[in-house]
Amino acid sequence: MEQTLILNIAQLLTFPGLDAPRRGRDLSSVGLIRDAAVLIEEGLIVSAGPRDVILKRTSPEKCRIVDAQGRVVLPGFVDAHTHPVFAAPRLFDFEQRAQGKTYAEIATGGGGILSTVDLVRKSSAESLMAAFKFWTQKFLESGTTTLEAKSGYGLDWENERKILRVLTQVGKEGPLEIVPTFLGAHAVPPELRERREVYLRRVIEEMIPQVAGENLARFVDVFCEGGYFSKEESRQILEASKKAGLGLKIHAEQLSRNGGAALAADIEAASADHLDFADDSDIRALARTNVVACLVPGSNYFLSKPYPSARKLIDAGAAVALATDFNPGTCPCWDMRMILSIACTQMKMKIEEALSASIVNGAWAASLGKTHGTLQAGKVADLVCHEAQDYRELPYYFAQSPVLWTMKKGEIVFRRSG
Ligand code: NIG
Ligand code: FE
Repeated sequence: MEQTLILNIAQLLTFPGLDAPRRGRDLSSVGLIRDAAVLIEEGLIVSAGPRDVILKRTSPEKCRIVDAQGRVVLPGFVDAHTHPVFAAPRLFDFEQRAQGKTYAEIATGGGGILSTVDLVRKSSAESLMAAFKFWTQKFLESGTTTLEAKSGYGLDWENERKILRVLTQVGKEGPLEIVPTFLGAHAVPPELRERREVYLRRVIEEMIPQVAGENLARFVDVFCEGGYFSKEESRQILEASKKAGLGLKIHAEQLSRNGGAALAADIEAASADHLDFADDSDIRALARTNVVACLVPGSNYFLSKPYPSARKLIDAGAAVALATDFNPGTCPCWDMRMILSIACTQMKMKIEEALSASIVNGAWAASLGKTHGTLQAGKVADLVCHEAQDYRELPYYFAQSPVLWTMKKGEIVFRRSG
């Protein structure tokens, strides 16, 4: 089997450490190696380290050489929270918000999640697939190699399944790796507005068993929020999901405080996401567990809302991850480098913390921490060469596009032209 050798790396970030979500001081340990090389075989890391050390383990003439051109190389971003299957942008919502309306007001006025649901229901699987494939290319171009991706714009079995099948199919085709999540409990569908109990029972008794039976998702997520699903309803949904063998996620304390964070800690969810209104007791509860606190500050930026307390979470010892939340309503941004910038400038995360949160803890939030997110031997060779000489440039030159190439499982899947 031919080996691949990446040479000419000015700075390599390896993220050494224990096989566990990173917290506290460990979140800052990026494992910087200057003048580095990476050896890859069968899509996996053989070793990553100083060039001299790596060159003793192989002979370059037998390897396929990939040139990093004196730039920075790090593992691909694991974007652990997205809603990427939708039919159209929500420009009307955006216009309204620019004129001062809130997310809640726009949702009640005919915009919001349900307006996307309406369009997704009217769209064929083929057109949703084409739209989603377009976005997968954008993720790869921005250095994201793995994506957690939610359904939630169907809200009946036919349409939720349509979305989950699109996610599964696109993931199978690659090269972007997709971790599908069933978010049937994203909102109560309009036809059952007066009979929400019926929808809840359908999600629990029909949809979740079918999702598990057809192997359509790895996780179940719930929007635990006033006007959407209460803490008690969320608990019922997630307990049924656990029984069905699915992993658990919660949209917790996003627009107000509803108990999602405490619930996540209690039922040992893989992640509790958003956490904008988490209080000190929520933060302490999360810090005591392995639940990843997955922050999505692109949505705070876009809705112009206060940012979640990243500093408090990190200082309390919680395992913090960062993700985009890419979706048409609250974060039409697929680029993790913008999220890094927001984390460092607005939330006072250290650059190293933000990078670990976007990569290693992103992997743990998607329950992929044992195989993804670091350059330790045996892990998946998902690597990105950024057009930077210093890794601190990533959040510094915000909203730029400096990826030279993206590698998934040892193969170059995107190369910047010119
Ligand atoms: O994470 N909060 C729920 N879901 C999305 C928004 C979805 C939408 O507005 O379409 C979020 O922000
Ligand atoms: Fe979300």
